[in-house]
Amino acid sequence: MSVKRVLSGIQPTSDSFHLGNYLGAVKQWVDLQDGHDAFYCIVDLHALTGEIEPKLLRARTLSSAAQLLALGISPQKSTLFVQSQVPQHNQLGWLMECMAGFGEASRMTQFKDKSAKGGADSARVGLFTYPMLQAADILLYQADLVPVGEDQRQHIELTRDLAGRFNTRFGQTFTIPDNYILKTAAKIQDLQDPTSKMSKSSGSVAGVLELMDTPESNAKKIKSAATDAGREVIFDEKEKPGISNLLTIHSALSGQSIASIEKDFEGKGYGDFKTAVAEVVVEYFRPIRSMALELLNDEKHLLDLLHAGAHKAREVAATTLATAYENLGIVK
Ligand code: TYM
Repeated sequence: MSVKRVLSGIQPTSDSFHLGNYLGAVKQWVDLQDGHDAFYCIVDLHALTGEIEPKLLRARTLSSAAQLLALGISPQKSTLFVQSQVPQHNQLGWLMECMAGFGEASRMTQFKDKSAKGGADSARVGLFTYPMLQAADILLYQADLVPVGEDQRQHIELTRDLAGRFNTRFGQTFTIPDNYILKTAAKIQDLQDPTSKMSKSSGSVAGVLELMDTPESNAKKIKSAATDAGREVIFDEKEKPGISNLLTIHSALSGQSIASIEKDFEGKGYGDFKTAVAEVVVEYFRPIRSMALELLNDEKHLLDLLHAGAHKAREVAATTLATAYENLGIVK
């Protein structure tokens, strides 16, 4: 059996990744590097569908690369690159737009949520066509697995539909990818509002744990996280969404099972528990943050790594695009 391909992407839309990005996705990216042929992409073109601030986009793209490396993405094991440096993403993106129906694109919940925020009329066309570019990201690499958080499930489903449709109509061209969504950490919730997901675009600064934030600030956010009625530390997503979220976070970072954490805090209150969670989070990310800051000091080194990644990515992407063009009857 040949080695499976993995592809995933992350938007450089914030100065720092948050804990949801890490536990829902990037942690799995790191694990999947071993035993798979992995491609990881900083999707700067997708980031253009939000507010564009040129200086910030540049800084955040580099900071995303530094964070991914510090979190354990190894350029020896996987191909790390910036989406815009591989023009085949736009080229296949157009083909995907020509495969997708207006109706199915209109049903994408990310588009509906994001466009509802600013009013549908002011939503940009790029936000609407975003999922077709994402499908191109995945299909260009013939990916078998796409490690993402729960919120991306629908986009992967669309990608599968578009690939299947293309293959049926124009001949075998794309691998149909499967999502790789971990049940345990697919949806990390906001610390202040544990019924909605931790998100870069959420208004709540206090509810979002940023990996590049100072250890003191993150400890403070965890200690002031919203908790639930009662005082027992038990996992119950319905009755105790706040405590359950903190249990998930503790368990994912410490490697301790939820049952054994519950046992450790039997007879103790929420205060002790939150102090322990803060300790786990802060100690986990302390060295990662330092390493990312150090990597950011050497911009040339970062750019060299990304250029080498893009070079490798372009080779694979060009082969897939050539097959797709040929199958469509596009003249060489
Ligand atoms: P983005 O940049 O918003 O998020 C990156 C990854 O983090 C996951 N995630 C979460 N997981 C658990 N709990 C949360 N609270 C949480 N918040 C975010 C996301 O599911 C994602 O896996 N459309 C994608 C980027 C993309 C992509 C791709 C992904 C573009 N092309 C191709 C996979 C394959 C996005 O907006 O991710």
